[in-house]
Amino acid sequence: MRLVILPNSDDVAEFACDLFAQQLTNKPKSVLGLATGSSPTTLYQKMISRQKAGDLSFSQATSFNLDEYVGLSGDHPQSYRHFMNEQLFNHVDIDLARTFVPNGVADNPNDECKRYEELIALAGGIDLQLLGIGINGHIGFNEPLSSLSSRTRVKTLTKSTIEANSRFFGDDERQPTDSMTMGIGTILDARQVVLLATGAHKAQAIKGCVEGPVSASCPASALQLHEHAIVVVDEAAAAELTMKDYAIWAETRHQAMEQM
Ligand code: F6R
Repeated sequence: MRLVILPNSDDVAEFACDLFAQQLTNKPKSVLGLATGSSPTTLYQKMISRQKAGDLSFSQATSFNLDEYVGLSGDHPQSYRHFMNEQLFNHVDIDLARTFVPNGVADNPNDECKRYEELIALAGGIDLQLLGIGINGHIGFNEPLSSLSSRTRVKTLTKSTIEANSRFFGDDERQPTDSMTMGIGTILDARQVVLLATGAHKAQAIKGCVEGPVSASCPASALQLHEHAIVVVDEAAAAELTMKDYAIWAETRHQAMEQM
């Protein structure tokens, strides 16, 4: 696992933007795995600026989002499809027809999850998967106790996740309690994975992800099994790490060797 500790959240977004730009330059037809929530919003703003400046193009790319709420249609303001359209897709040169988010109002959510897995396989698999992390260590909506080899499926949210995401819903709005999410096995199949975390409230989850035992109790710890996983955090999210000094030093060496 490559652990990159940067001074602040803007640096984290800039680092991730470089990674996506490199991916799209090396392979314009890349299949990108995308995420919603607070963690990627600065990254998406940076992607938009770079695309408008002509430094980045999504014109041949395909994307698959991690998850969607069961019961919310794509035009619902709190749906993840709506989030992606607003935060990224409507502002860059991506072909909307090649952006995929599970259909939250599919007649049969289980069949929709199977279809989603098939679509990812048909597209050739995910080249670069973006992740955030929940305060309980979830990735996608794979809550603690999720099987480490799970595939896209319906997953009931924990009380802590429902509470953490209640900030996006109005008092009189019904907040869904179930989701469709790529599984941990689906995420681990991506050729490269990058997880972003900023802020002190993520420090415990990052410790579990990076230094904890590989365990269903902290789904993000499964990234320890991935050959090409990069965890990019700010100082605050790195605060609980025992190996922090080593990680900073190792990253300096990594960059020096890249320049050789
Ligand atoms: C979002 C997702 C979630 C979030 C996580 C962190 O598509 O799958 O795992 O990445 O809940 O959310 P934020 O970034 O809002 O703290």
